[in-house]
Amino acid sequence: MKQIVLSLLANAGGVGKTTLSVHIAYEILRRGFSVALIDLDPQRSLDVFCGLEPVEAVDSSAYMLSKEFKGDWQMASSWGEEKIEVCQGHPMLAEVANDLVVRKRGEYVLADRLKKYPLPHELVILDCPATLGMLNVNALAASTHVLVPVQLEMKSISGSAELVEWCISTGDELQLEPRPPILGFVPSMYDDSIAIHRQYLQQLPEITEQLGLKLYPRIRCSNEFKNSSAHGLPLQKYRPAHKACKDFKQIADDLTALIKDK
Ligand SMILES: Nc1ncnc2c1ncn2[C@@H]1O[C@H](COP(=O)(O)OP(=O)(O)OP(=O)(O)O)[C@@H](O)[C@H]1O
Ligand SMILES: [Mg+2]
Repeated sequence: MKQIVLSLLANAGGVGKTTLSVHIAYEILRRGFSVALIDLDPQRSLDVFCGLEPVEAVDSSAYMLSKEFKGDWQMASSWGEEKIEVCQGHPMLAEVANDLVVRKRGEYVLADRLKKYPLPHELVILDCPATLGMLNVNALAASTHVLVPVQLEMKSISGSAELVEWCISTGDELQLEPRPPILGFVPSMYDDSIAIHRQYLQQLPEITEQLGLKLYPRIRCSNEFKNSSAHGLPLQKYRPAHKACKDFKQIADDLTALIKDK
């Protein structure tokens, strides 16, 4: 068994990072593994998606990244599942991010935390903010793997290609060994009644091939995603029979293989 630390990164807001984070977490839980979700977003979206009350800064990931942290992880279990634990976000993360710029080893704080005070979970998922700032640099430095949700819009697709460049150049600057590989692109919110979605989905294989990346099956667009997260639940728990529950299978298969180190 190997601990996998997966960053959900995108070069744009609202493309499905948090949605993907929680659904992957639940899928991996169903396969018998434990999962930690770490919210690195000052907007603390995971609170809503995981049905959790907001916490004070001292109980959040902002404290975990602060100088005061002594390994006392504050984790809340979610969805009534002991094996899913969340390190919740807080608006103070924005200030912490500024502070990281001038801190020694500021880029490696999260990596250092996970090394010095390891979490017991088989999978750690880092839900990142949309801007490629210090928090995302920390996520990259702490990751074993990266996954990139891509919306079927020109802005998101070109942003994703830039993100790949960013991962490579930042990984090289930080001298990450190895540089965390990008598992692949995940087309998100796909609506087959929208012509431009169909067109971009057709074009994506060529783009990912050029980038040397894997292309995962699309996650379909459904209002039930919004409804389930409004209830603080993943779709698999809210509407277990919904077709979109199957859309995460291939990602979960790959992560399971990585956890089992096969
Ligand atoms: N497959 C989908 N079908 C329909 N709605 C979706 C789908 N995936 C995500 N959404 C909705 O789109 C919105 C943005 O999704 P999400 O919060 O996961 O994106 P994000 O990349 O984490 O955003 P942010 O940049 O704000 O962190 C949410 O309201 C979410 O419920
Ligand atoms: Mg988010």
